[in-house]
Amino acid sequence: MEIQSIYALIQQDMSAVDAMIQQRLQSEVVLINQLGHYIINSGGKRLRPAIALLSARACGHNATAHIQLATIIEFIHTASLLHDDVVDSSTMRRGQETANSVWGNEASVLVGDFLYTRAFEMMVELDSMRLMKILSHTTNVIAEGEVLQLLNVHDASTTEQRYLQVIHHKTAKLFEAAGQLGALISGAPGAIESALGKYAMHLGSAFQLVDDLLDYSVSSEIIGKNIGDDLAEGKPTLPLIYAMQHGSAAQAAIIREAIEQGQRDKIDDIIDIIKETGAIDYTAAAAAREVEQAKTCLLNVADSEYKTALIDLADFAVSRQF
Ligand code: IPE
Ligand code: IPE
Ligand code: MG
Ligand code: MG
Repeated sequence: MEIQSIYALIQQDMSAVDAMIQQRLQSEVVLINQLGHYIINSGGKRLRPAIALLSARACGHNATAHIQLATIIEFIHTASLLHDDVVDSSTMRRGQETANSVWGNEASVLVGDFLYTRAFEMMVELDSMRLMKILSHTTNVIAEGEVLQLLNVHDASTTEQRYLQVIHHKTAKLFEAAGQLGALISGAPGAIESALGKYAMHLGSAFQLVDDLLDYSVSSEIIGKNIGDDLAEGKPTLPLIYAMQHGSAAQAAIIREAIEQGQRDKIDDIIDIIKETGAIDYTAAAAAREVEQAKTCLLNVADSEYKTALIDLADFAVSRQF
């Protein structure tokens, strides 16, 4: 299923989110406007806002708070990308040069802070202590995830368990907040709120597993980011961890050295090893399991076209090429 056809159902809501993004991005500081519009208008998938909107609609929401919620979540996501590209020294995102390549690291970090703090201002406007509690905790856990990941960089002995903890924190947690808060602002019962949160958390884990897989399996043109960034940075992601465990001693040594040294130029050899050892299949299967768990979480959510779209979105997370 194409993502556009899933979004068709919430097209008006998505346009309202877009309008609010543009409006709340405004600042008297020229650089904030320039850089902010550059990254926001460069065509992200808007997956997290879509989950928040669909979750709210699936709970019968028909007011306007979900638009603001979705905008807040996209701002937090975008802020984390601005910071992430500095930390990862990435030069390409969403099919164009990263903001740090155009304006430098300092500007990216600071405009990232602007987006984070604007998100917090907008959060307070929603005037719900529970919502603020969940979102502030979420952003804190994302920060922990990025620091945890930093500790694993260049460490070839990183275990699958430690890797899974990183992706839960840096990625799945924000998805979880999108699903849970969509239900919360709709006044859904606690059980539904937590079901939609868990659904989105599993989807988020699947999404990051696939992201890490795509770094070794598709072209930069398709994904809009430079392939091999993870390797260049020495990031021990699941495809590498599994291939090291299941390859020959010589194959494991090649991967170990590439992680320790961050050898982007070894990418072709490493892609061969990943394929040969079944690491692609293993990672894809792990993502597929997460997606199945995500769908199971929706069992007690009332049937609707929005729920169907949530199911389709989970399938998109594993079938996607970009
Ligand atoms: C990128 O997220 C960061 C990860 C969690 C892998 P997306 O792939 O959702 O980024 P955009 O917003 O669509 O560019
Ligand atoms: C996701 O990690 C970053 C955040 C969740 C902040 P990645 O480093 O894998 O994301 P990409 O590949 O740069 O989009
Ligand atoms: Mg990155
Ligand atoms: Mg990545």
